[in-house]
Amino acid sequence: MVKVYIGMSADLLHPGHLNIISWARQYAGSDGEIVVGLLTDKAIASYKRLPYMTYEQRKVVIENVKGITRVIPQETLDYVPNLEKEKPDYVLHGDDWKTGIQAQTRQRIVDVMSNWGGQVIDIPYTQGISSTQLNKVLKEIGTTPDIRRLRLKRLIENKNIVTICEAHNGLSGLIVEHTSVNKDGKRKEFDGIWISSLTQSAAKAKPDIGYLDTPSRMTVLDDILDVTTKPIIYDADNGGPIEHFIFTVRSLERLGVSAVIIEDKIGLKKNSLFGTEVEQCQDSIEDFCAKIKAGKSACVTDHFMIIARIESLILEKSQEDALTRARAYLDAGADGIMIHSRQKTFDEIKSFCSEYNKILNRRPLVVVPSTYAQVTEEELAENGINMVIYANQLLRSAYPAMVKTAESILLHHRAKEASDEYCMNIKDIITLIPGAK
Ligand code: SPV
Ligand code: MG
Repeated sequence: MVKVYIGMSADLLHPGHLNIISWARQYAGSDGEIVVGLLTDKAIASYKRLPYMTYEQRKVVIENVKGITRVIPQETLDYVPNLEKEKPDYVLHGDDWKTGIQAQTRQRIVDVMSNWGGQVIDIPYTQGISSTQLNKVLKEIGTTPDIRRLRLKRLIENKNIVTICEAHNGLSGLIVEHTSVNKDGKRKEFDGIWISSLTQSAAKAKPDIGYLDTPSRMTVLDDILDVTTKPIIYDADNGGPIEHFIFTVRSLERLGVSAVIIEDKIGLKKNSLFGTEVEQCQDSIEDFCAKIKAGKSACVTDHFMIIARIESLILEKSQEDALTRARAYLDAGADGIMIHSRQKTFDEIKSFCSEYNKILNRRPLVVVPSTYAQVTEEELAENGINMVIYANQLLRSAYPAMVKTAESILLHHRAKEASDEYCMNIKDIITLIPGAK
């Protein structure tokens, strides 16, 4: 009996996939079998964007396609572990993998298959349609609150570390949504968006002291929701009084926001990075736990996360204080912990991690490396950190760029120099936003 193996993600099934499956039917003949190695969410997230559909959803689709005998998980990008188990006669793949970074993967498969006389068959690539194009169209169509909200949990489950970047208006939201880079055959983009109290206030030329009220912050959030599909994490300062926090949770959850982070401080809000230079008071464990519990009871779905932010290290209290609070907040039902630090090195957070990781009901750990920005995502992940937030860099880079342009116009009595050196093309800005023409 002939056995054919196809590895695929099958997220957005298109004629290119069906062409390969139809070739597989021919190779398998009437009594052969076609085994699909369906890439798990983890395997896909290791080299590109997390798929729209979960593994289970993709499995239901692919196992109902004509001719497919079995669907098995392919846990890594590497086919070899599954091939050694299955020992198929043929592996079929689009011939686009003969060049570029995938050529090595292909060669490895050719070599392994030769151990049992199996063959790799390259199927002519179907022109005119690709998952990349479909992904683009899907982004333009947008998302729903339910799909967006759940995505953060899926990302945490399937990625080594989830990367989140700040946006403070619709335009910066677009940048976080669309910017991507390719390196070593892997595509990297931000996983989600941070709605920072600091940058949202600064963009309105207001201090980060809780002056912007929640409804006015929600109008900016709405601009961002409008033009993005990625999960959103909202910085709610200390969440306000419990009675207010319940409203905030309900509104955010309904909008499709995935998580809210609240900090364990009381009194007039001051930015954490001022540390002990200004008066900042920490909440009692008891009162903050009550706020977490009230927030959790206000949630309608199981997918909205309430993340408790510990300010002990910011306020120069002990590591033990931070850990005691972490345990108490987890016991109160927090879905994750954010530990903040304003040290210039990663050491303080690193030693917190080694103890935090021993907590039995440990949940995802979030950090904001603004002052210890030299730390890499790899190092954070090695220490068990699940999510990194780049909390203010887009706004911090936009401001000096605008000052430079303003100075250039003043110096030259005209805009030509600034326009040539520092500005994007006029044509590009007027067509930047879809629907402008
Ligand atoms: C924010 O971005 O508003 C934060 C992080 O809360 S920090 O500014 O470091 O407090
Ligand atoms: Mg803040």
